[in-house]
Amino acid sequence: MPTPDALDRCAAGDLSPMLALMQLCLAAADEAAVRIRLAEAVAGAEGAARERLAAVEELWRTTPAAFQLVRAVGASGVEGSSIERLADAFDAASRISPEAGVALYSLGRPDLLDAATAEVVESLRRRGLLAPGRRALDIGCGIGRFVEALAPELSHITGLDISPVMLDEARRRCARLANVSFMLGNGRDLAGLPDLSVDLVLAVDVFPYLVASGPAVTRSNLREMRRVLRPCGRLAILNYSYRGDDGADRRDVEDFAGNLGFRLHARGERSLSLWDGNFFDLERTP
Ligand SMILES: C[S@@+](CC[C@H](N)C(=O)[O-])C[C@H]1O[C@@H](n2cnc3c(N)ncnc32)[C@H](O)[C@@H]1O
Repeated sequence: MPTPDALDRCAAGDLSPMLALMQLCLAAADEAAVRIRLAEAVAGAEGAARERLAAVEELWRTTPAAFQLVRAVGASGVEGSSIERLADAFDAASRISPEAGVALYSLGRPDLLDAATAEVVESLRRRGLLAPGRRALDIGCGIGRFVEALAPELSHITGLDISPVMLDEARRRCARLANVSFMLGNGRDLAGLPDLSVDLVLAVDVFPYLVASGPAVTRSNLREMRRVLRPCGRLAILNYSYRGDDGADRRDVEDFAGNLGFRLHARGERSLSLWDGNFFDLERTP
């Protein structure tokens, strides 16, 4: 039976319909298995659970390419561990679908990706991380969805990524914006960015790849993030790893915060409704 718990979690309100459908597509043998499983789940549910599962079924109905796309992007190798292999894999994923390449749960749909982006931006705003005079670095910017969304609320934002194809798409998306720039990074340091030059480093769904690249890569990136941040500048990490162990993520972040000079404001809470990323908010100590 394909991932019964993705639909169970969605029925219980613990997983958004798009995440549930993504997980179902990844686990099912074929499209027919997704359709049958969904129909059974909706028929067997009542009340609010039935409404949530009907929303998954509606996504399935209105996104005919979902299964093929999730499987193709999922097979593009983005779990690879060396930086060079990751860059190639993200190039390949972006060529298949820019939206699914940065967020598989978008199912390749710009409208679903925009909704998820808007929810993250609102959470950054609520935490007081955005202000007109501030400069930001979006590390692992992908197709630049956050650069585009945050530029109007900051004085400048730089997007950095190791994938040239992602960066081409980001430059295209943000071509009309005057206060943005993009850099191809080497994945290990932030060479080319001056010391003490930004007030916010944003890292959405990129730490899992730093962590997968090994402790030396994670540590050198963290040192570099501290170097480019001004005193009291903030580092917002959304998703630290894909280990599925919130306690281990929290311990790792607390360890590096203590060793490298960061103070923790948020310790991995999961407060978003559309995406299940955990949120760490750190302040660079003077
Ligand atoms: C899942 S995507 C997320 C993209 C973007 N943050 C977003 O949420 O739309 C991860 C991105 O991290 C980039 N990446 C992976 N390892 C990196 C590294 N060591 N340094 C910079 N970017 C990296 C990938 O190329 C990819 O664009």
